[in-house]
Amino acid sequence: MPNLLKLKPDYVVHGDDWKTGRQKGTRERVIETLNKWGGKLIEPEYTEGISSTLLNEEQRSIGTTPQIRIKRLRRLLEAKPIVRILEAHSGLTGLIVEQTKVSDNSIVKEFDGAWISSLTDSTTKGKPDIELVDFTSRLDTINQIIEVTTKPIILDGDTGGPVEHFVFMVKTLERLGVSAVIIEDKIGLKKNSLFGTDVEQKQAEISEFSDKITRGKKAQLTDDFMIIARIESLILKNGMDDAIKRAEAFIEAGADGIMIHSKEKDGKEIFEFCNKYKKFETRIPLIVVPTAYNHIYEKELSELGVNIVIYANHLLRSAYPAMVKTAETILKNERSKEVDPFCMPIKEIITLLPGSK
Ligand code: SPV
Ligand code: MG
Repeated sequence: MPNLLKLKPDYVVHGDDWKTGRQKGTRERVIETLNKWGGKLIEPEYTEGISSTLLNEEQRSIGTTPQIRIKRLRRLLEAKPIVRILEAHSGLTGLIVEQTKVSDNSIVKEFDGAWISSLTDSTTKGKPDIELVDFTSRLDTINQIIEVTTKPIILDGDTGGPVEHFVFMVKTLERLGVSAVIIEDKIGLKKNSLFGTDVEQKQAEISEFSDKITRGKKAQLTDDFMIIARIESLILKNGMDDAIKRAEAFIEAGADGIMIHSKEKDGKEIFEFCNKYKKFETRIPLIVVPTAYNHIYEKELSELGVNIVIYANHLLRSAYPAMVKTAETILKNERSKEVDPFCMPIKEIITLLPGSK
């Protein structure tokens, strides 16, 4: 309904199969909403055997092109109250982001795209999250995910490296069809933000980081790719005023989005930042990573003006304990029978992916 209210279309076209069944309620709400401005609902007769779900699946099996994929994030930002992104660190986790769906009151929910996290990408490779995994190796992960998915990809670009390297990174990502890179305003040896002030980390000067954004934007060939500036002021306890000042400067430098990060569990500083950000004259998409303040619902974030929510590490964090439990259970029992209840049946794993037989 929010899209109808925003676009106020003269006509909505939908197959007449929703007159009965679980979409009946949605149809009634559409009619009610259209009545507010005299819009009309057109309902062509449903053609047996053709379903939009099947068409979507068919389209997915055909795949996508870099040009189509890259634009999709900007389109989603225009169309949705909040864009929902989940971490992927391999082809298989990319497929989970691509294919997972749940149905809730006739609304089908799914993720809108993948976040290629530096934390989970490096952890999967058995390395610490300190920009040690080089770009060639990160590209390998990106390509694995690109190979098997069609949804937009947002890359965690860490600090973006030296500006001379960053311009090459931008060109490579744009060529591949990655929709956006997020770079954080830190310098020196980057450590994961969730360490906060437990480790030594420094923020870059505003002018230096602004220059990186501007030069990155100039390196793009099209207008589709997005460079998102990530502000670490709250993580490093440099204050709300510093975070706001940086947001203003990075917008001025040409950033396409602002990511504000926080590791405070109560979410208060994120609320404060968002409310201040709402008053900006020039406002660009706002991105948050609610790992610490995970009690807040997407709807509340959307009401705060957040445009993209990133679930940054959850597939890896849930897979790791499951794998360790299996390894320990085999060791304890000196056989594998006891792990059967928490393992996928062999028949299912060998046929999990299309084309397995
Ligand atoms: C990542 O996922 O690698 C991030 C987000 O940068 S965080 O780990 O919260 O810093
Ligand atoms: Mg990271």
